[in-house]
Amino acid sequence: MPTGAGDHEAVLDDLFETLAGLAPEIRASLPGRRVKSDETNPSGETRLEADAYADELIEDALREVDGIGTYASEEQAEPIDIGDGELSVACDPLDGSSNIKPNSPMGTIVAVYEGDLPGDGDSLVPAAFVLFGPILTMSVARDGRLYEANVNDGEIDVIDDDVTLPEEPTVYGMGGRVPDWTEGFAAFIDEVEQEYKLRYGGAMVADVNQVLTYGGIFSYPALQSSPNGKLRLQFEGIPMAYITECAGGVSSDGGQSILEVEATGLHQRVPVHLGNEQLIDRVETHLAGD
Ligand code: F6P
Repeated sequence: MPTGAGDHEAVLDDLFETLAGLAPEIRASLPGRRVKSDETNPSGETRLEADAYADELIEDALREVDGIGTYASEEQAEPIDIGDGELSVACDPLDGSSNIKPNSPMGTIVAVYEGDLPGDGDSLVPAAFVLFGPILTMSVARDGRLYEANVNDGEIDVIDDDVTLPEEPTVYGMGGRVPDWTEGFAAFIDEVEQEYKLRYGGAMVADVNQVLTYGGIFSYPALQSSPNGKLRLQFEGIPMAYITECAGGVSSDGGQSILEVEATGLHQRVPVHLGNEQLIDRVETHLAGD
C-alpha cells in the first residue's frame, strides 16, 4: 500500500480544503446542467454539461494550489500542466453522472500521484471522494487511514476519523449486463445472492460507500465484450482501491491488488472488485477458473 504524504502535507491540506470548498458549488451547479452536451469524453461516453462544468471548476481551482504540477481528468484526453510541483492530480469530476437524470447520488474522485501520469499504485499519495448524496460528504484516504467528513459550507467537519469496514459483509453490487459476465463471475454471484443483499445504484462512489458502511463487495468485473471492464485505472480503480484498503478492505483486478496493476495508459480500464477480504478471496477463486 502507498505509505504516506511525506513532504507534501501542506500541499495536500490545501488541496483537500480546496476540494471541500468547491463541493457545494459543484452541487449547486447540477440542477441547471442535467442535459447532454454534443461531446464525448476520451472513453467515448456522452458528456453532460455538468461533467464539463465540474471539470473546469476543479481545474481552475487546482491552478491556485501551490505544489500541483499536473492535472488530468477523465474528461480530457491528455494531462495538462497547471503549475510547479511534482504532484499530479487525476480526477473524475462527476463519477456516475448519468445518475443526474433520475436524481440519484454521484461523486467526485481525486487521486494524487507523485510524478508523471499515468502513475501506478506505488506512486499514489492520498485519494479522496466527495459524495453528492442526501448529505454532502468527503472521504479522504491519507497515510493509511480513511476519514469521513461532512462538508458544511465548504468546511471539512470530520465525523469519523478512522472508517473501518464492518467485519461481517451485508451488501453486494455489481455492474455489467448478466449475459456479458464471465462464467466465473456469474458463478460467484450465484453464491453471494443466496447470502447477501443486492444494492447497486450505478455510481461507483455511492456503491463503494455502501460497502464501506455496511460491509460487502462492489464489482465492475471483466466482461466478455470488455476484458478490462469499464472503470478507469487512474481515475477510479487506484483511488477507490486505496480508499478501500485504508478502511481495512481489499481490492482486486481479479488476480492481484489494483494497487499493483501496471499503469500503461491514462484512460486504461481495469476490472474492479472492492470489499471484505473473504469476498475478494472468493471472487478471485471463481475468476481463476475463467
Ligand atoms: O465510470 C462511470 C460509472 O458511472 C461508475 O461510477 C459506475 O460504477 C459505472 O460507470 C456504472 O456503469 P453501468 O451504467 O454500466 O452500471
